[in-house]
Amino acid sequence: MSDIQSLIAQMTLEEKAALCTGASAWTTTPIPRLGVPQLLVSDGPHGIRRVADVHSMTIKSLPATCFPTASSLASSWDVALLHEMGQALAEEAIARDVDVILGPGANMKRSPLCGRNFEYFAEDPYLAGTMAAALIEGIQSQGVGTSLKHFAANNQEYERFSIDAQVDERALREIYLPAFEMAVTKAKPWTVMCSYNRINGTFGSEHRQLLTDILKNEWGFEGFVVSDWGAVHNRVAALRAGLDLEMPGPKPTRVDGVIEAVRNGDLDEAVLDEAVRRILTIVCRAAETPKGGDFDIAAHHALARKISAETMVLLKNNGILPLRDPQHIAVIGRAAMEAHFQGGGSSHINPTQVDVPFNELQKLAGNAELSFAAGYPKDDSRDPVLIEQAVTIAQTADVALLYIALPSYKESEGYDRPDMDLTAQQVALIQAVTAVQPNTVVILNNGAPVATRAWIGGTAAVLEAWMMGQAGGGAIADVLFGRVNPSGKLAETYPLRLADTPAHLNFPGENGVVRYGEGLFIGYRYYDTKELPVQFPFGHGLSYTTFAYDNMRVSDEEFKDVYGITVSVDVTNSGAVAGQEIVQVYVHDRESRLIRPYKELKGFAKVSLQPGETK
Ligand code: BGC
Repeated sequence: MSDIQSLIAQMTLEEKAALCTGASAWTTTPIPRLGVPQLLVSDGPHGIRRVADVHSMTIKSLPATCFPTASSLASSWDVALLHEMGQALAEEAIARDVDVILGPGANMKRSPLCGRNFEYFAEDPYLAGTMAAALIEGIQSQGVGTSLKHFAANNQEYERFSIDAQVDERALREIYLPAFEMAVTKAKPWTVMCSYNRINGTFGSEHRQLLTDILKNEWGFEGFVVSDWGAVHNRVAALRAGLDLEMPGPKPTRVDGVIEAVRNGDLDEAVLDEAVRRILTIVCRAAETPKGGDFDIAAHHALARKISAETMVLLKNNGILPLRDPQHIAVIGRAAMEAHFQGGGSSHINPTQVDVPFNELQKLAGNAELSFAAGYPKDDSRDPVLIEQAVTIAQTADVALLYIALPSYKESEGYDRPDMDLTAQQVALIQAVTAVQPNTVVILNNGAPVATRAWIGGTAAVLEAWMMGQAGGGAIADVLFGRVNPSGKLAETYPLRLADTPAHLNFPGENGVVRYGEGLFIGYRYYDTKELPVQFPFGHGLSYTTFAYDNMRVSDEEFKDVYGITVSVDVTNSGAVAGQEIVQVYVHDRESRLIRPYKELKGFAKVSLQPGETK
């Protein structure tokens, strides 16, 4: 008998039931009599949100490095970088006694309005799955667990606890499940977190087809399924469906209910034993990693800066960037002084330190004179005086840098965005500054695409800096001054208008139901197939150098399922500075009997090239 089986054999019914419900907001129930410790979990996913008191659900947590959020990370398309970040996260988890980090999230970006898109990777399942797997492998390589979330079809915040996502089988299999499948089969997360919502009529926590048939049986998931916090409605039904651990606790009535159900024959004890086996396996595995110690705050801050610079996407550049010795720089925008670097909700990190973008700019600006104007208020109000002040300093400068952050009240866990717009004041500010200063660079901080049509025409360059993490201020300066050559590419389309987006007519749903009427056609799958123009396509991102593609080879004329196909191409850095290029491979099915997206991403590689070098 294995150790786990022998433990189960020694456990009372009461102990088994107690193990399947949390003991506190963040811990499982220990069994001291048998030497079974508690398991401590903490949010994630882009930093460790370890609350000092495990009985508290409050936001304030111990200091941790706040890395860029998932929407930024995916724009790096850099598997090795995410692995490295995962290792750093694990080090911090170990220092804080954390066994499992609650993340990453692998949900698809169905609409740019989902309030939590900043926590999700991409509109493409292959990219999202690859990124999620890399982060999980990095974290778990250090003996710390992960919780892949939110399984499944959690694509909006509106009525997130109850909405019924009606998704057809093909859309589930081709769009909403593959990122989870890739992460589960490749990286083997220790745990998977179910979603709050219903999927085709059944709550995520009670969804037997998803939790047992697909996740455990079909994909071979060996860890345990944990509920999202408060996602369980009927504990016994959830256990039967394959939901192993209910969080948070304590919930004595739930434990009693499970005991009662076994006693009266409603619940087969074998079902409980299976949940117990899965939880114990992870509890014992986690206990093998010695906890405590400390982490190198400065080194992790430096890593956060490196990662952040790699994730930034240069959307537009008329040649103004990188900056070449400007003498007078007008720095405009509140976000230059108060960095906007993360989103609101359960992933909110208490950072170890925060770069002030203005100060970091100053450090790299040599003898240049920097002037500052706030440009827009904290709230939604209009303030013409702030715009006048900005125009005044912009007029006489060589270049104006506009730091525009989407306010937190427009984007957070818990609610969706009403639109894709910047605030009216921000739009008026950009228009007024670009009217007097042709060398205007807009730097954006946001977790998901914003509408740019009203203001982008007059700009010289636009840098998408995302929710960039605590060191993002320095990373922006690195990119603006060319210390880092930008290499990020969009992991989601920048549409021209909200009305063009694929889910527009079916978002966020009505009468408790959201119908995924666009089926397979989300993101670029929709825009390409419909031949709709977009502001910036999926995969777009500029560099300070240029790349030439030559000599493309395909390993076979025909696709043979078992072996796949290898696509090779020679990429040459044809410009003057070192840079990185992301080669993307899409497939197009010429013979399908069924309707298919025009093209689909099936592979990519990021290469680093010196000027003149070919790989
Ligand atoms: C969120 C999860 C999070 C959990 C614990 C929930 O409301 O949806 O992503 O891990 O809270 O904070």
